[in-house]
Amino acid sequence: MDYLKIVGGVKLQGAINISGAKNAALPLMASTLLSKNTTTIKNLPNVVDIKTFLNLLEMLGSDVNFNNNTAIINTNNLKNTKATYDIVRKMRASILVLGPLLARFKQCEVSLPGGCAIGARPVDLHIKALEKMGANIKVENGYIVAEAKQGLKGAIINFDKITVTGSENIIMAASLAHGKSKILNVAKEPEVVQLCEVLQQAGVDIKGIGSDELEIYGTSGEGLEFKEISVIPDRIEAGTYLCAAGVTNSQITLHNIDSTHLGAVISKLEEIGFKLTYNQDSITIYPAKELNAFEISTAEYPGFPTDMQAQFMALATQCNGVSIIEERLFENRFMHVSELQRMGANIILKNNTATINGKNELFGAPVMATDLRASSALILAALIANKESTIHRIYHLDRGYENLEEKFLKLGANIIREKE
Ligand code: UD1
Repeated sequence: MDYLKIVGGVKLQGAINISGAKNAALPLMASTLLSKNTTTIKNLPNVVDIKTFLNLLEMLGSDVNFNNNTAIINTNNLKNTKATYDIVRKMRASILVLGPLLARFKQCEVSLPGGCAIGARPVDLHIKALEKMGANIKVENGYIVAEAKQGLKGAIINFDKITVTGSENIIMAASLAHGKSKILNVAKEPEVVQLCEVLQQAGVDIKGIGSDELEIYGTSGEGLEFKEISVIPDRIEAGTYLCAAGVTNSQITLHNIDSTHLGAVISKLEEIGFKLTYNQDSITIYPAKELNAFEISTAEYPGFPTDMQAQFMALATQCNGVSIIEERLFENRFMHVSELQRMGANIILKNNTATINGKNELFGAPVMATDLRASSALILAALIANKESTIHRIYHLDRGYENLEEKFLKLGANIIREKE
């Protein structure tokens, strides 16, 4: 297993390119199950989750070619409609094949993803919405066994809670259903918006894109014809590097971003005291004179992203005063707290709220990554810790950050990947 060795205390400088968004790429790859032509998807990050999803498509019988951040996918000869536990347990987002497989093949089996490190993460809302569309769904031996003999029917779906992959699953299912669907309380994340835009360009009539209410006129089973797709920039990767600059109080520039997706993150960094200059596709952050404590409450887009909460906690250790971070989306997304405490952070955790007393000197230590975003917080802490830190179980990071050490090395960090 690989681990990272980081020696802290170095200012960052320079510029890097941000990769395509993993969370946008996953539903886009799933949507090729609705396609009748060969689909090209560009700007895919070369990370483990993307390869796992391409593997899943291959196991189902798709032809897949992945090279230079571009995948060419053809699902015409696909016959197998069972997504097995072996692959789903590696990545919860495999659930994204449920809607499209059921819409196209009228039956499928997808392993239940089960819990994960950040909480129970049920898929009841995905199932309930598909049932509303006429599906007959049973959960048997750990599998979601779904059938819609006459094909899925358009329906009015009102999500009880905003769910990102749930919205994506139902948007894809509604695209091939018979008749009109109205989907209310739908997620508005940029990744959901790109999926809608791609489906629209592929011939689906979708109204309300970007709002929390969509109207989708299904094609009654007729396959879609996709144009070439280029995945949007990864707003979470961009936010992570902005926090790396913030925590080390350095000046760096990020290219290939979409600043319109970074609103909540940019305004929080400005509130802390950083100056940022940006245009549509690049952003520069400058050092602050004084770092002010802040408060965050995670929320659905356009609110403050839960996927940026851990990185801002590392940053809070360097702010003067008491910062408060409330996690509202996931019940157990604070595993980074104990590792940050081991590095000297003064954090008090009560229920879903962390109180961070800054500013603290952090000490290098061996620490353990627990999930994708929690791990990036440990890197940020290590960048300012005195002496050396080692970050273990970095397969969590490899799931979602492309060329992580190369990018940090380019910014001047003292970081190296070693074998255990
Ligand atoms: C997606 C993102 C993840 C991000 C999260 C919230 C991908 C691949 N992953 O995850 O990085 O942290 O959105 O922005 O895009 N819920 C239910 N029942 C359901 C579905 C969800 O109760 O059927 C709950 C969840 O437990 C959670 C909340 O709804 O409390 C939001 O989860 P959801 O938006 O579904 O997260 P994911 O789509 O899994």
